[in-house]
Amino acid sequence: MTEQNGEFYRDLGQDKYLTEVKRFVPGYDQMTKVVANLVIESIPSHVLDIGSGVGNVDSVILSSLGNVRMTCLESAEPMVRATETFLRKYESRVHIVNDRVQDFRFNETYDCAFSNLVLHNIPHNEKGDVLVEIRNSLEDGAPFIWGDLIRYNSLKQKLLVGYRHALAFQKGSSFNLVLKDWRKERHDDTKLSLEETISLCKRVGFQKPRLVWKKTRGTTGVFYMRK
Ligand SMILES: C[S@@+](CC[C@H](N)C(=O)[O-])C[C@H]1O[C@@H](n2cnc3c(N)ncnc32)[C@H](O)[C@@H]1O
Repeated sequence: MTEQNGEFYRDLGQDKYLTEVKRFVPGYDQMTKVVANLVIESIPSHVLDIGSGVGNVDSVILSSLGNVRMTCLESAEPMVRATETFLRKYESRVHIVNDRVQDFRFNETYDCAFSNLVLHNIPHNEKGDVLVEIRNSLEDGAPFIWGDLIRYNSLKQKLLVGYRHALAFQKGSSFNLVLKDWRKERHDDTKLSLEETISLCKRVGFQKPRLVWKKTRGTTGVFYMRK
């Protein structure tokens, strides 16, 4: 994660984060349900969440699966603190790591991994290596679920990014936050198109990566694949 991203998430505690993310990502609740359900359906025993934010998706998984253990990897300290508070009642089954995925030592294995709205923060030249590490940390046949912002061709992209930010403003986000997020998305984020995502996942060796959910106007998608 870049310094800008660290700064971006610094002031967003749990309540504020959840309010803002729903304003900026239309279909956020639906998206997180799809991701959580795909994890739950695989009935895993040890899950890795990359970029856990405030731990809201993890909380759904932990409450549904009484025996699951989770490793929550998160680079921004305020989000780590929010996750600790949010997941306190599951603390014996949760391991929270304050690190960037690029620096994380993948020395355990998981039977499921997921990442929602995070990997667009990883620079293009580091994305492939991160995906290789994720894949290597999975048991054979284990699923990886990747939800993220999607890049379209330039004109559609401009319109949809503008639409999402106008919507966030209309829903009550401050003009400063809208501007800050718009600049982050324009200059720092490294989104991939649907095709680029699938081809990168194939290249690093994932089996049958495919889009399982898409919110067209929100420019978000959820991908499912196996090691
Ligand atoms: C938009 S939030 C998504 C949080 C959560 N996964 C969700 O679905 O709401 C992105 C999160 O990823 C974290 N993040 C960004 N870059 C990261 C990196 N390189 N390694 C680990 N976490 C990262 C941010 O700090 C932030 O909490």
